[in-house]
Amino acid sequence: MIAYNVPTGQNCPLMLVLGIESTCDETACAVVENGIKILSNVISSQIDLHAQYGGVVPELACRRHVDVMIPVIEEALNKANVTLKEINLIAVAQEPGLVGAVLLGIHTAQALSLALGIPMVGVNHIEAHLYSAVMSNCNEVEFPSLGLVISGGHTTLYHLQSIDQYQILGSTRDDAVGEAFDKVAKLLGLSYPGGPQIEAFAKLGDPFRFNFQAGKVRGAPLDFSFSGLKTSVLYTIRDQGKLDQQDTYDIAASFQQAAFQDIVNKALLASEQTHCSRLLLGGGVTNNQFLRQLFFEKAPHLKTFWPAPGLTVDNAAMIAGLGYQKSIKDLRKGEG
Ligand code: KG4
Ligand code: ZN
Repeated sequence: MIAYNVPTGQNCPLMLVLGIESTCDETACAVVENGIKILSNVISSQIDLHAQYGGVVPELACRRHVDVMIPVIEEALNKANVTLKEINLIAVAQEPGLVGAVLLGIHTAQALSLALGIPMVGVNHIEAHLYSAVMSNCNEVEFPSLGLVISGGHTTLYHLQSIDQYQILGSTRDDAVGEAFDKVAKLLGLSYPGGPQIEAFAKLGDPFRFNFQAGKVRGAPLDFSFSGLKTSVLYTIRDQGKLDQQDTYDIAASFQQAAFQDIVNKALLASEQTHCSRLLLGGGVTNNQFLRQLFFEKAPHLKTFWPAPGLTVDNAAMIAGLGYQKSIKDLRKGEG
């Protein structure tokens, strides 16, 4: 079993990694010591920019990254109280993401690497979301483990041998779960991003008033489908006519209940199939406290590892952390 431990002792030289994240609508930079100790974690969110359109506009996202990338890097260095000269490695999120936004991050990392004469490592953004759960629970995480990334762009279940070696057990056939939250919020007249607002409304509603169901994919029991659920919400809103406040709360609660019950059920099925009872979680939807409670109640035998606050949404600390792990793995391979 491979565990990620906090590296200590004389054999472990200090390595400061500067991480850069710009795959979607957050421009982020972080300084992380030896893959685990976060010295700074600066996130510049573009929510204000995209809220009026109800979702991310790629062209606008790229231009905002250009404007804020250098100030965000400077702020991360200042907060960590280090200079660029003290950085040993640049890590950057290199896939997947909006092409222009990803390229901006990679070019910034390449320029820093060239100017400072230090190496650069590219990491996978989704693997980094899983690593955020490792950073938050470092000495407790063991492999093999199940992994679940739930965000605005992804809903994927993994069987992990380590963070970068895995089989995909299931993924969404249509909307990602965060995307479904955002779209349902829009139907209810709430602003982007919808997830936190649906969660707040759901606290005041009846989760069993409307009988919503997430989709089942024939022949692929671990795949997800949320577009039918979203359409049921649309028809319910249409059939209700004018919604009063309590209707809105009940729709939010019933939608959230259906989406998350489906996620918990599929995690339980994956656990049964793989005989694995550990689960690492990552992505913006892990912010949701109702989901954490549902796992606690419905899947008590699953040992769940959640990202700490600040590591749930897109951030660069997870990029720097995983970049460190990748580079020491490559070094060891070189030595071996
Ligand atoms: O990981 P993330 O920052 O970006 C992507 O890689 O997509 O996730 C953003 C997504 C959005 O869809 C947002 O609505 C959702 O995470 N989200 C939530 C909550 N907080 C953020 N969904 C449900 N409940 C929340 N509390
Ligand atoms: Zn993400």
